[in-house]
Amino acid sequence: MEKLAQTDYPILELLKRRWSPRAFSDQVVEPEKLRSLFEAARWAPSSSNEQPWSFVLATKQNPEEHARLLSCLVEKNQQWARGAPVLMVSVAKLKFDHAGKPNRHAFHDVGLAVENLIVQATALGLFVHQMAGFSPEKVAEIYRIPDEFAPVAAIALGYGAEVKDLPEPFRESEAGPRSRKQIQSFVFEGQWDRPSPLVIG
Ligand SMILES: Cc1cc2nc3c(=O)[nH]c(=O)nc-3n(C[C@H](O)[C@H](O)[C@H](O)COP(=O)(O)O)c2cc1C
Repeated sequence: MEKLAQTDYPILELLKRRWSPRAFSDQVVEPEKLRSLFEAARWAPSSSNEQPWSFVLATKQNPEEHARLLSCLVEKNQQWARGAPVLMVSVAKLKFDHAGKPNRHAFHDVGLAVENLIVQATALGLFVHQMAGFSPEKVAEIYRIPDEFAPVAAIALGYGAEVKDLPEPFRESEAGPRSRKQIQSFVFEGQWDRPSPLVIG
């Protein structure tokens, strides 16, 4: 399904097309496409080129692994994410490789890598839905993730499907409108909370 962003100013077509559906098709995501997604993530910028991202991946071709990762999601997310052929969790390394100092930008950089992955996915006809609703503790335990790493977000990925294939509670919101804050509410100039003249008007 298409839910193009209604923008006030022109943006890239790919960014307009990206949105977070809950209805996913059973169609297998080709391994070469998955490799392209991680290649895109790989080329994201990062503080000191630290590249503090990792991904734990599970596909429906391995149902046990898929179920294991699904079990880390909160119940409400499980209801729809079970339909996604690919699940993953992004993970941040919290300390710099060199000298072991805390990396204040680790989560930021993981987000950049994920956005690269999402833009690449959109270009390949895929959809991505990120989730905060999962248990980082359970992920860390199941996958034996060391303490200096933190699970950041769960991610469902695949080809889109008809809204009618979704469990009932999600059908209405899936077709609902998309909303965003006005640009003036977050671009300031001269002083905090003073909208920049650039974006007034
Ligand atoms: C870090 C993050 C966490 C999110 N957590 C959830 C979640 O737990 N469950 C869910 O259904 N959607 C979740 N979302 C999806 C957002 O609700 C969605 O991105 C937002 O409403 C904007 O919609 P759009 O992505 O379709 O433009 C999350 C998105 C992000 C980036």
